[in-house]
Amino acid sequence: MKTVIDKLCDNQSLNREEFEYLLDNIDDKSLEYLREKADEVRIREYGRSVYTRGIIEFTNYCKQNCVYCGIRHDNKKADRYRLSAEEILDCCDAGYKLGYRTFVLQGGEDPYYTDEKIIEVIRAIKKALPDCALTLSLGEKSFNSLKQYYEAGADRYLLRHETAALVLYKKYHPNMSLESRKQCLWNLKKIGYQVGAGFLVGLPKQTTKDYVEDLMFLKKLQPEMIGIGPFIAHDNTPLEGEVNGSVRQVVTLLAIVRLMLPKVLLPATTALGSVDPIGREQGIRFGANVVMPNLSPTNVRAKYALYNGKICVSDEAAQCRKHIEGKVSDIGYSLDMSRGDHKNWRRL
Ligand code: 5AD
Repeated sequence: MKTVIDKLCDNQSLNREEFEYLLDNIDDKSLEYLREKADEVRIREYGRSVYTRGIIEFTNYCKQNCVYCGIRHDNKKADRYRLSAEEILDCCDAGYKLGYRTFVLQGGEDPYYTDEKIIEVIRAIKKALPDCALTLSLGEKSFNSLKQYYEAGADRYLLRHETAALVLYKKYHPNMSLESRKQCLWNLKKIGYQVGAGFLVGLPKQTTKDYVEDLMFLKKLQPEMIGIGPFIAHDNTPLEGEVNGSVRQVVTLLAIVRLMLPKVLLPATTALGSVDPIGREQGIRFGANVVMPNLSPTNVRAKYALYNGKICVSDEAAQCRKHIEGKVSDIGYSLDMSRGDHKNWRRL
């Protein structure tokens, strides 16, 4: 096992068989060795800084029907909301005062927000807070729309591929196509965004081979950011009562990804902190270097319920930051409130 981990460190990759062997056979001792290697690389590249992004969840309307997701279109029990442009700006202003210099606008695929509306919001934020980075996470969009958002000032775009395994992708994404999702990620790269892909861990019926597919795809895409989180069952979805993804499996994959793409921006996700009270801290110890505290207005927080038991739904924005700051420093790392761009990125 140690030779395989050493090979991953030296070559920044493995073949399919080796990845499969690593994922299927790693024991506690080897996992600790993998963690040390990933932590070394992360410290070499980014020190002990943990970049901090304020996330604003501006709509939970969604036209898609991802089987695992709590805001899927068919969940008639979801209490839907939308924030106005003014409310979104207020969240950014409040975040700015707390020190945030990156804002992530995330929402379901909600046609109410036309390109015109989105562009207006991007311009307004960039005008008010020109020293901040703006990340969008709005689902799949056309090349043309994405190009317009970039030209309006958006810097980054998060679009998890969710799973690169075709059969599994089809099972969980009715009426969607893995091919067009991947194409969208390539388009984002071509336009010049810092691109975030990523995948779910522990979906019912997900296998080691499926994760290997994710790793192979990520190595090829070379995204600047990668979001990896555990699947968590949501009560009002067809996956109600299913077993959640495990911290162990997520952190193993985080460490592998850190070694494959040393400079990648890797969040310790909210979902990881939601399956386990020290999940995010574990993520950071295994190579993650980003956290994304919630900046949404408190009265909508609980409504953006992608899964059961999401943390931070009742905290004020300021509390949320203080809370994570304490946790990060307790384990020997420190919050970094700067924009935290990927090392190799410059706006085209
Ligand atoms: N459990 C964990 N993560 C989920 N997401 C959606 N539903 C769930 C769930 N039930 C993730 C998806 C999406 C991101 C915004 O939230 O990966 O890309």
